[in-house]
Amino acid sequence: MKQSEIKVLSVGILGLGTVGGGTYTVLNRNASEITRRTGVAINVVQAADRHLSHAESVTGNAAILTDDAFAVVNNPAVDVVVELIGGYTLSKELVLKAIENKKHVVTANKALIALHGNEIFAAAKANNVIVAFEAAVAGGIPIIKALREGLGANRIEWVAGIINGTTNFILTEMRDKGLGYQDVIGEAQRLGYAEADPTFDVEGIDAAHKLTIMSAIAFGMPMKFEQAYTEGITKLQQIDIQYAEELGYRVKLLGITKRTTQGVELRVHPTLVPEKRLVANVNGAMNAVVVKGDAVGPTLYYGAGAGAEPTASAVVADLMDVARLMDASSAQRVPYLAFQPDQVQDLPILPMDEVQSAYYLRLRASDKPGVLADVTKILGDRGISIDAMMQKEPDENETQADIVILTHVTVERNMNAAITAIEALEAISGKVVRIRMEELGR
Ligand code: HSE
Repeated sequence: MKQSEIKVLSVGILGLGTVGGGTYTVLNRNASEITRRTGVAINVVQAADRHLSHAESVTGNAAILTDDAFAVVNNPAVDVVVELIGGYTLSKELVLKAIENKKHVVTANKALIALHGNEIFAAAKANNVIVAFEAAVAGGIPIIKALREGLGANRIEWVAGIINGTTNFILTEMRDKGLGYQDVIGEAQRLGYAEADPTFDVEGIDAAHKLTIMSAIAFGMPMKFEQAYTEGITKLQQIDIQYAEELGYRVKLLGITKRTTQGVELRVHPTLVPEKRLVANVNGAMNAVVVKGDAVGPTLYYGAGAGAEPTASAVVADLMDVARLMDASSAQRVPYLAFQPDQVQDLPILPMDEVQSAYYLRLRASDKPGVLADVTKILGDRGISIDAMMQKEPDENETQADIVILTHVTVERNMNAAITAIEALEAISGKVVRIRMEELGR
């Protein structure tokens, strides 16, 4: 390609932290390969960061740096703004300003898209600009591309993913080393997997952001983060990981979204997954997403869900899409939510009571005749069918035994009623432990 034929895409980056630095590095290292692919030279013309000396150590070029992010979104020389500062207050203001200024936007910000995506896409449509967010979900895994384009022929039935590396690292350590959550969280923080305040990760909020985005583009509906059910891993006990293992299951924090005839399930919680499933064997900080399409069946996407260059891989791929499509009409671009804007449907999110799941139950019961019969009657009376059962011998000098029950799929409302009734039995002590279970096979 002659130099004179090469178009230029001028990029402004907001935030030169881990992902910003990785983006700058990948853009530079692979510049000629990227231009060979797109026919466009993608040049960073300005970058904003609060810490200018750090920013200079990343770019080695003080001339393009500013500590004023608004200078970038208002810079007439910038075609596309890459938002990598995170949060959803300042970043929202900056993204909306960039859009108002007719600049395309690439963002890695899952919270921003999950909470304010509907407003951002409406503004982007009105201004005829692209908003791309591949890096917001599962870091380097091109899951947005897969859902929006690669699987476009399918009616997508469900998506289930390990979409938080921190919690997957913690669960892997708990299983491998037989440790409790409290023993592992400190190590995760020391190794830099978990933040000083790990709430967003360990309580499932980060996963719910990513799940919300996948759900919206899988089913063609608005972002509904506020209605996502979110349960983290902080209350998980080592003994349940062990018992699950004995029964052939692994415990994973899954984000699950399913389309049913009544509505959409949108839930993040610890889940038993059969150990024979590939996704059950995704360990450490890695991410994986299973997508079930009606034509293709279940498909699996695996890779690094975080980190400088894995996330940059997604950011730069989005920049390449912008480079290819910036001159195209909006009709030629892939719609923000994968479906034509006037075809986006306001599907209802099912309350947890109406969700369908199989269950792992652990109860502590007096080891005497009739207890199991009472428990199975409570389940049977509510139409809950038992799949497997395991009773652990009481320890010496103990009169209570752990009973573990796996059930077939039922409606959560029935299970809640059954658990209340089981806990009321005189022979049962304490609370019943309940973990949802998914086959992920069909
Ligand atoms: N904190 C996230 C995780 C990475 O642990 O997967 C960024 O989304």
